[in-house]
Amino acid sequence: MNDETKYILAIDQGTTSTRAIVFDHGGQIVASGQREHEQIFPKSGWVEHDPMEIWENTRRVIGEALTAAEINRHQLAAVGITNQRETAVVWDRNTGEPVYNAIVWQDTRTQKIADELGGDEGADKYKERVGLPLATYFSGPKVAWILQNVEGARERAEAGDLLFGNTDAWLVWNLTGGVNGGVHVTDVTNASRTMLMNIDTLDWNADIAADMGIPLSMLPEIRSSSEIYGYGRKQGVLVDTPIAGILGDQQAATFGQACFEIGQAKNTYGTGNFMLINTGEELVRSENGLLTTVAYKIGDNKPIYALEGSVAVTGSLVQWVRDNLGLIKDAPEIEDLAKQVEDNGGCYVVPAFSGLFAPYWKADARGAIVGLTRYITKNHIARATLEATAFQSAELLEAMNADSGVDLTELKVDGGMVMNETLMQFQADILGVPVVRPQVIETTALGAAYAAGIAVGYWSGEQDVIDNWAEGKRWEPNMDEETRARSLRLWKKAVERTFDWVD
Ligand code: G3P
Repeated sequence: MNDETKYILAIDQGTTSTRAIVFDHGGQIVASGQREHEQIFPKSGWVEHDPMEIWENTRRVIGEALTAAEINRHQLAAVGITNQRETAVVWDRNTGEPVYNAIVWQDTRTQKIADELGGDEGADKYKERVGLPLATYFSGPKVAWILQNVEGARERAEAGDLLFGNTDAWLVWNLTGGVNGGVHVTDVTNASRTMLMNIDTLDWNADIAADMGIPLSMLPEIRSSSEIYGYGRKQGVLVDTPIAGILGDQQAATFGQACFEIGQAKNTYGTGNFMLINTGEELVRSENGLLTTVAYKIGDNKPIYALEGSVAVTGSLVQWVRDNLGLIKDAPEIEDLAKQVEDNGGCYVVPAFSGLFAPYWKADARGAIVGLTRYITKNHIARATLEATAFQSAELLEAMNADSGVDLTELKVDGGMVMNETLMQFQADILGVPVVRPQVIETTALGAAYAAGIAVGYWSGEQDVIDNWAEGKRWEPNMDEETRARSLRLWKKAVERTFDWVD
């Protein structure tokens, strides 16, 4: 069906903000609304969000996007949801109240729980079953922490009163009626980030849930990424609109970038950086620190898998330079400063704020600025800040090439930081392969829109996504091999300085 009069709404519930974007049939943005939510840092290493603020923001941005698009909810063919993954929300099914703030994916408080779960078998204890190493990053141990530390939570959970979800499940439950019959579902991609789902059979693993003390009654039903889960029910927002797509944000970007062939990859530059490579119906186990994850599952089709390289801190490093150091007033200013110097002057910034994720998985690493001399100015630090994103991405690509045995010949990129020309050129230089930006860089929201639109027949399938994808800009590598090798060597040396820091 090609109904030009209708639109698809995507809700992108990200780490720092929630956005609603209206897309037309050509996959172009018609209008959007966006609201940031508070980042709550109660202690060093702890990161929380208020789920109620996120829900309220979601309602508002939906209204703002529809108003800006000058359409009403009856013109929406479907709604797709994409979200920050791993962030854990636990709420009461009877009152709709969260029992605690959402514990964000960047939060490191669960290190002890993860270590205890691993025991003698260590971090790889569940890897064969769930595709992930035991790390603070994933949702399961965060839920365990809430049940262990919030008074009365365990009893309420065992009585069947508490529900868990990543923010996708939290929003779908609220949008479909909340305490008045809200549906409690998630999709395979979000479930694959909990440490609780069997990566081959795509159902919950009761043994691991029991190890973590999580009653199965708390867990959402696992569904595909593209099907009608329920209908908008909240007074005034999305009444009767099908909620028909859910994809974790990195998987959504992979979908929106049309990475449907085995070996196609994308890198998204958000709060962190996440590179995913499509491995098709095959479940590939990484030997190089990558995660095995579900890329997407369309309705009853077989699931498509991916290998993922996750880096915790990239865009959020620029925010930190702005908010904590006060070196810049707004994020784009980092490029103005960085452009004024030829190179980093020997200075490297390693943002191991949440330990180091891929490919190192070092929970006890902490950030460092190294190579300082009297020569170094704030321009060099700005440049090193940007370069940190590119170096971390280069290490992901290295791991992917090693795992797949085939070298990637170009890299599709998306996310906010891809507007930064200095960074993109340096990224191509340091990777040694071209970097390609699509015309629509909001591929995360677009991917969720496609998943929802395909479920209701607004788009016919993946071919429509391929047809709508268009190249926006390409950066060719332009750095001599010696400089490239030396820069990467120094970067790795700088990374090693951050290891084993936590006492
Ligand atoms: O795994 C975390 C990721 O889903 C968060 O993405 O774009 O909100 O930083 P983003």
